[in-house]
Amino acid sequence: MEITTETLLELSKQYGDAFYLLDSKQFEDNYINLKNSFCNQYDNFNIAYSYKTNYIPKLCKIVKNYGGYAEVVSEMELELALRIGVEPANIIWNGPIKQLQNVENLLIAGGTVNIDSDIEMENILCIAEKYPDKKINVGIRCNFDVGDGVLSRFGIDVDSISFEKIIQIFKENRNLNLINLQCHFAKRNVEFWPTRAEKMLQVTDKVEGIIGYIPERLDLGGGLFGNMPDSLKQQFHCFIPTYTDYANAVVAAFNSHFPNKKPELVIEPGSALAADSMKFVARVKSIKTVRDKTFATVLGSQKNISMTGVNPPMEIYAVDNYETLYSDVDIVGYTCIESDILYKNYTGTLGLGDFAVFSNCGSYSVVMKPPFILPNFPVLEIRGDTVELIKRGESFDDLFHTFVF
Ligand SMILES: Cc1ncc(COP(=O)(O)O)c(C=O)c1O
Repeated sequence: MEITTETLLELSKQYGDAFYLLDSKQFEDNYINLKNSFCNQYDNFNIAYSYKTNYIPKLCKIVKNYGGYAEVVSEMELELALRIGVEPANIIWNGPIKQLQNVENLLIAGGTVNIDSDIEMENILCIAEKYPDKKINVGIRCNFDVGDGVLSRFGIDVDSISFEKIIQIFKENRNLNLINLQCHFAKRNVEFWPTRAEKMLQVTDKVEGIIGYIPERLDLGGGLFGNMPDSLKQQFHCFIPTYTDYANAVVAAFNSHFPNKKPELVIEPGSALAADSMKFVARVKSIKTVRDKTFATVLGSQKNISMTGVNPPMEIYAVDNYETLYSDVDIVGYTCIESDILYKNYTGTLGLGDFAVFSNCGSYSVVMKPPFILPNFPVLEIRGDTVELIKRGESFDDLFHTFVF
């Protein structure tokens, strides 16, 4: 997607001084490349896209059309998956709290629910008893240490009595199918991935020893870095792996563990697919200097780009010739919060009305922006000479119609 000042001026005339630019082709390319990176070495592989990362329906439909799974963690996302036509069998419902009636509906329609606690197992057992002739597909979110220094609150400790008891329930109730063993770790460093694989394989062996079969899917979760320019990579103080690096970290162990019939290996990327598929555009509204420090305020907020502690890749598109050379400018947001800084210590030319274009804004941005002070801005996609409206800007009424006046 080539951006010019003229394009941005045209768009801002129609859509205002702040908007997102979606690049769904980039998302699709990421999906294909990530899938190929794993399939080249292990062909029974699939992607479960983490809807919460960026649930723009157009992106979710791309995943659906390629036969990927919908990884949802709420009723809202579950409904979205069903509304865009994802087959229940291709929905994996994770997360710590799920409304029981919706769990029942998904299970009897053939979807997968990954349990996060003992009480969920008990509730699902009641559902299984209610439908003795139905196969009820259940997964377990597995909790173990991968050496990342985090004591996760999610899932069932695989070394606990609870885990043993849960596996016994599968053994004793034949219409309960343990379809999925799943884990997820937020730290994206590739060095934790071999341990994910090894420990999941150990758990699989233990489970097989009790229930007599290997679950159809072994799901290693999300937590992968996406593609990014060097300027962003350098700010992470760790190695930024490629998709192939992640595949290399786990696939050999799977291949040697399963020389013949291979269970499906699944991962749940969010950021790795969505991050570089969106830019955020915000115009400079004021430039001022306070005790030798210059601030440029844009119509946009750190909440729109959801990046903290790093400077996102940013380009300034100048609108006229009255540019001034500045050094050490903080590009700050419209909110009244001191820490609302989109970019720290910018050095370069800047003028009123310029467009600041932030890249790599596709993950946890448009979905996480709270209605704090201003509603959210539109999402557009440029396709050749046309502009596709992906989401209109929110209005006062969009936000306030749920309040009682
Ligand atoms: C269970 C689960 N799967 C997948 C993801 C996606 O993670 P990421 O965006 O880091 O790939 C998350 C994010 O928190 C998650 O909790």
